[in-house]
Amino acid sequence: MNSKIITVDGPSGVGKGTIAMMIAESLGFKYLDSGSLYRSLALKLFEKNQNFDEVLSNLDYWMSDILIDFKYAKGQKSKIFVNGEDFTDKIRTEKVAMLASKIAINKSARDMLEKYQRSYIKDPGLVADGRDMGTKVFSEAKIKFFLTASVEKRAERRLNQLKDQGISANLRNLIQKLLLRDKADMERTISPLIPAEDAIIIDTSDITASEVFNTAIKIIRENLKII
Ligand code: DC
Repeated sequence: MNSKIITVDGPSGVGKGTIAMMIAESLGFKYLDSGSLYRSLALKLFEKNQNFDEVLSNLDYWMSDILIDFKYAKGQKSKIFVNGEDFTDKIRTEKVAMLASKIAINKSARDMLEKYQRSYIKDPGLVADGRDMGTKVFSEAKIKFFLTASVEKRAERRLNQLKDQGISANLRNLIQKLLLRDKADMERTISPLIPAEDAIIIDTSDITASEVFNTAIKIIRENLKII
């Protein structure tokens, strides 16, 4: 197997999912949204037992019968299933994101999800987005991006996404939530959110998604032969 791996990491709301998907589509690579695995595991655990302290103190037991699976259909966004149930839409809330961030500090959870993530390496290649794709899970990747953006811009984007879904939200509130999650993701001891030493950093605050994509794809195309 000679799969090429491209990683796209960064904090929440920075646009990494959009960019990673665009790159995957243009190269004909598979796309992996690692955050959706954390979200699905966290939500399933929460459905089993709302006492998260109890769950975290015996995580191996609570996780033992959980099976997460992506289903791909041509021309459509992939769907995520937990023990056969479609979780695609219900994991997209701020509440589930916070639960995911709590689960993400746990080594057993990270180890289990790392195995899932590695199993998605496929020819001709994979584009994976998350927090530790370039530093840990796919540290061997030859092209790594780390996207950043101001918290205000990230909150604005989130607000617009929510508006599009007919959900009203408050900008200040969203900023607070993003800052809380950034803090949890950056300060955890295992696989914290930091750029890999060899990552290319792109600030997306004042540029459009297509501009970010154009910058990234140019770098990829220049390097694709050697990766
Ligand atoms: O990318 P996201 O917002 O869907 O991720 C939700 C949470 O999952 C994030 O706040 C931390 C955790 N996560 C992680 O720890 N490592 C990853 N590679 C992806 C997500």
